[in-house]
Amino acid sequence: MTLPPAGQAPDKGPLVAAMFDRIAPRYDRLNRLLSLGIDGAWRREALAAALADGPARVLDVATGTADMALLLKRARPETQVIGVDFAETMLQVGRAKVARLGLEVSLQRADALALPFADASFDALTVAYGLRNFADVERGLAEMRRVLRVGGRLVVLEFPPPPANLAGRALRWYGRHVMPMIGGWISGDRTAYAYLPASTEAFLAPAELSAAIAAAGFARVQHRLQSFGVSALHVGVAV
Ligand SMILES: C[S@@+](CC[C@H](N)C(=O)[O-])C[C@H]1O[C@@H](n2cnc3c(N)ncnc32)[C@H](O)[C@@H]1O
Repeated sequence: MTLPPAGQAPDKGPLVAAMFDRIAPRYDRLNRLLSLGIDGAWRREALAAALADGPARVLDVATGTADMALLLKRARPETQVIGVDFAETMLQVGRAKVARLGLEVSLQRADALALPFADASFDALTVAYGLRNFADVERGLAEMRRVLRVGGRLVVLEFPPPPANLAGRALRWYGRHVMPMIGGWISGDRTAYAYLPASTEAFLAPAELSAAIAAAGFARVQHRLQSFGVSALHVGVAV
């Protein structure tokens, strides 16, 4: 079955998990290479937003190989950090990084659409480049709102669809031609690295994603484009 690029697709979950399990061993290296190392700066900006109110307990949803969770823990060692993802091999790569750094970050297998946590159990929640892969974005946002306490911060990093200008055209060309070639070459999975940019093209524009976040029960929702719109940071406060 072909993986639908984005949007509501009830049977998309297992295909997404299997795809990330396949590319997990090369995922980090390709992230750095394909973003030309700039993803570190995008994540640090998200980190600052997530830690702004000094949260005691933070959840990183769709944590993958735990880059965001590790940044959070290193920046604020006294904070309890939990990462969840439904791709076990991504989590295994993450657990090896956690062990290597000697940090206490719990990485658990869970579906973002049915989080195994009580209502209002986190002070902040991050999701980096995970949302557009969800089979049901609205349900994912509702789950995130449910596990956040009132006043808790939601911080989302996502790749918006390339804008209709020259930079966007260049980005679309890079996604359609360069990413599948380099990604396929290094990971051995060209399909995955064709899906990733295609899912970006099919995803919500930043204003639409901000509206979806607000509709899920968040106030003061703001977004900021990063690197001329290659990435976008969204922040909202649970109400
Ligand atoms: C592009 S990766 C991002 C990983 C990590 N957050 C990062 O910044 O590198 C997307 C991740 O979302 C996870 N994911 C997608 N849908 C999910 C869901 N419904 N529940 C849990 N994890 C999900 C995938 O397994 C994958 O690890």
